[in-house]
Amino acid sequence: MATHFKIDGLRAAIDGKEILKGLSLEIKGGEVHAIMGPNGTGKSTLASSLMGHPKYEVTDGEVVLNGEDVLEMAVDERARAGLFLAMQYPSEISGVTNSDFLRSAINARREEGKEISLIKFIRQMEGKMKELEMNPEFAHRYLNEGFSGGEKKRNEILQMMMLDPSIVILDEIDSGLDIDALKIVANGVNAMRSEDRGFLIITHYQRLLDYIKPDFVHVMMQGRIVKSGGPELAERLESEGYDWVKEELGIVDETVGQV
Ligand SMILES: Nc1ncnc2c1ncn2[C@@H]1O[C@H](COP(=O)(O)OP(=O)(O)OP(=O)(O)O)[C@@H](O)[C@H]1O
Ligand SMILES: [Mg+2]
Repeated sequence: MATHFKIDGLRAAIDGKEILKGLSLEIKGGEVHAIMGPNGTGKSTLASSLMGHPKYEVTDGEVVLNGEDVLEMAVDERARAGLFLAMQYPSEISGVTNSDFLRSAINARREEGKEISLIKFIRQMEGKMKELEMNPEFAHRYLNEGFSGGEKKRNEILQMMMLDPSIVILDEIDSGLDIDALKIVANGVNAMRSEDRGFLIITHYQRLLDYIKPDFVHVMMQGRIVKSGGPELAERLESEGYDWVKEELGIVDETVGQV
């Protein structure tokens, strides 16, 4: 089925403070959308709210993936439905190896009795790790524990490749990556582009978008999307910053504001 993901008028709050203030966005299979925006405008909050992070209370709006109401689903159900998030700050989980974690995540998306065989899993994981130029020993290390910033980001992409999601959200996947790793990660993402998968890429820098060409670029301010365009929008933001957007829209404080 062709992927269709729609966010409509999403509002979300944390500790009673509203961060997302009516955000709408539609992603179809095959499309890459980039979200840019100054610090503290709600980009990571959007990512966490979509995945169902318990700290964020959705107060209004709709999120629909392939006809299914995402907001009704628990976090694991969202993952099973095909949502994937590479977090800005991936968590470390001591005591769970990377490969155990990945195999459980893959099996959680399968029906009982149809689990991936160990041999097949290992073969797949080794193949993907090679593509990402990861040292094989990372399979046996505890999840993200002691990983460098760039190693964590690469590991998130490994998870994305293994889980085969239909909507991929990457929150600052480029932060902390050296120049070679940025290319490797971008190649990994590009290899995953397909008609039945959509991407939402949150980034501060045009450079990532040189490697992963977006179809649409959105600017987020004050907890919603305030401007959309094509790749040329990212180029203009890179060279001119955000002041012209604020001026054009009469925005004085672009953050979600303090209450
Ligand atoms: N768990 C939390 N507790 C308190 N405030 C929060 C929490 N999560 C987000 N906020 C606040 O919500 C606002 C938006 O945060 P968010 O992380 O979504 O911004 P962002 O656009 O991702 O910024 P950056 O570009 O710096 O990553 C910020 O003012 C932040 O302090
Ligand atoms: Mg963020």
